[in-house]
Amino acid sequence: MLVLAIESSCDETSIAIVNENKILSNVISSQFVHSKYGGVVPEIASRAHLRMINEIFHTSLREAETSIEDIEAIAVTNQPGLLGSLIVGANFAKGLSLKYNLPIVPTDHIEGHIYSGFLQDPTLDFPAIAMVVSGGHTAIFQVDSYNHYKTLGLTRDDAAGEAFDKISKLLGLGYPGGPIIDRLAKLGNQTAYNFPRTMYNSNDYDFSFSGLKTSFKYFLEKNFDNNPPKDIIPDLAASVQSAIVDVLIKKVFTAADEYGISNIVIGGGVSANSYLREQSMAKAQKENKKVVFPSLTLSMDNAAMIGFLANKKLAELGEVAFRNLSFTCSANSLRAKYPKKNRVNSTL
Ligand SMILES: Nc1ncnc2c1ncn2[C@@H]1O[C@H](COP(=O)(O)OP(=O)(O)OP(=O)(O)O)[C@@H](O)[C@H]1O
Ligand SMILES: [Mg+2]
Repeated sequence: MLVLAIESSCDETSIAIVNENKILSNVISSQFVHSKYGGVVPEIASRAHLRMINEIFHTSLREAETSIEDIEAIAVTNQPGLLGSLIVGANFAKGLSLKYNLPIVPTDHIEGHIYSGFLQDPTLDFPAIAMVVSGGHTAIFQVDSYNHYKTLGLTRDDAAGEAFDKISKLLGLGYPGGPIIDRLAKLGNQTAYNFPRTMYNSNDYDFSFSGLKTSFKYFLEKNFDNNPPKDIIPDLAASVQSAIVDVLIKKVFTAADEYGISNIVIGGGVSANSYLREQSMAKAQKENKKVVFPSLTLSMDNAAMIGFLANKKLAELGEVAFRNLSFTCSANSLRAKYPKKNRVNSTL
């Protein structure tokens, strides 16, 4: 079905037109205004979505060379995220649904990241081990189909993306920190400093990144009075990046081994990290596994992944299942919302 999908859970306003796994447009507007605050300011984010959403809607239709009259369903991210931001997208979606009498598919943002690898590579088979590494979440799932997956592990505190962002802030490098550290790390030596790889050997699939941030903070205080010389910044970036990536790779590949699954998908903003990509690809090749990363555009927050998943739900349940406009939005984090047991997709 020709689905118009809306994503506004954090600081990207995105609208995509997707038919099955064919992306006709995927317009993304990032809110750079937050960089001067060192993190996303929720109220500024909601207002920016409100300002941009109509223009993105028209641009997306134009780029797809289609019109709203041709759209068969609306999809929208309704959780998790910043409530004010989610509500802008949800209300825009409800308005379109009412005006054009279209079914509306409320869709989970993290599920969008989980399945983005399947959008990227239609030859990828179930079952798969999926790892979502983003600004708000770090988690591993066993994925059996488009409507069934099981949570194997979660971060107990900070997400990997948060660690990149906070460490970048401590170094005075700016926000978002992940891409900056990634770029600087290419010029540095990853063995120069040894930062903790918390829970590396914990025999489960949980993560913890808050200790790394704290240890990095004390390291800077103790050794450089919070002012490290410029020439060692690339070494610090490379060392901290390898501490994060080593744990991610260890956990996701161990899960694949334990569950006897050779397909691995890695999604979410941190999956754009070049060292994570290189190391995972090399390990997969060595171990005869298949690892799929979404393209850089599909790894960041984008509406195409939401439209793709909505298409799968529509195919499975039919459009009559999606005529209920009374859905709400939820800020729920993965930790609160996804107990470690079998669970069925949120709308099924
Ligand atoms: N090349 C990179 N290396 C490491 N981290 C990166 C890279 N590019 C982006 N990131 C990180 O990705 C995060 C943003 O990802 P994403 O937009 O998926 O998160 P979010 O949507 O805010 O959170 P969630 O998806 O958990 O709700 C930021 O923390 C950013 O620093
Ligand atoms: Mg995200």
